[in-house]
Amino acid sequence: MTAQLIDGVALSQQIRAQVAVRAAALAARGRQPGLAVILVGDDPASAVYVRNKVKACHEHGLRSVMEAYPATLTEAELLARVAALNADPSIHGILVQMPLPRHIDPQKVIAAIATAKDVDGFSVHSAGALMSGLPGLRPATPWGCMKMIESTGVPLKGRHAVVIGRSNTVGKPMALLLLQANATVTVCHSGTPDLGLHTRQADVVVAAVGRRNTLTADMVKPGAIVIDVGMNRNEAGKLCGDVDFAGVREVAGWITPVPGGVGPMTITMLLVNTLDAAEAA
Ligand code: GUN
Repeated sequence: MTAQLIDGVALSQQIRAQVAVRAAALAARGRQPGLAVILVGDDPASAVYVRNKVKACHEHGLRSVMEAYPATLTEAELLARVAALNADPSIHGILVQMPLPRHIDPQKVIAAIATAKDVDGFSVHSAGALMSGLPGLRPATPWGCMKMIESTGVPLKGRHAVVIGRSNTVGKPMALLLLQANATVTVCHSGTPDLGLHTRQADVVVAAVGRRNTLTADMVKPGAIVIDVGMNRNEAGKLCGDVDFAGVREVAGWITPVPGGVGPMTITMLLVNTLDAAEAA
């Protein structure tokens, strides 16, 4: 059996088309959705991510304000910028790109962002809302994974989902979203002795550890849905995920490719969050 591909580019295009329609409707009522993106320092990967986020906004009728600061920016100066954007009614979402320089406490900065504008969904308040089953902005990457799982048409109720990874940005919110969708959820991590023991029972596996070949064909139940959040490079410098794609696609029922899987969905769900925040403002 060869797995069906879950095409993150195609699904993104569908969702982004709806984003553009909603953005135009808001703009016609005098409220163009606005996202502020703050980049501190000169990390080249961060600069690429930020550029892609700003570009995606412009392509879908959202206004995007990009603020780039040198790595010498103080924590107090950054907090002052966040406070100013919190008070700016034309800005509905605020994203401070991580990682920040070491002299700035990321938790302090995330906590300073108004909850209604926390389009990353990283704040304690947003995380608490997710955990409590209350409405709120959800972290873009795991939410994008949920949309990809939904696109298969396989209902999650009663299924066993295994999340590999326990980060605050992906693994933990992913587990909570799956739980909210009535899956039975297991969270595995670097301290799990026999990963395959768990993944072989899983109808859905989400791999988010940042280590290639973490999930191989012998660890996958035939027909399972496999979502690969990883973003790694192999020896040849080629982009690859956490899943041994060539092997696992022969066993799984559905699989996301890298690139062209979860990556585009992350930016798409950031657009959706910004739009939701603008509509709620
Ligand atoms: N750095 C890498 N991914 C992200 C993200 O989704 N949001 C922010 N703010 N920083 C990141």
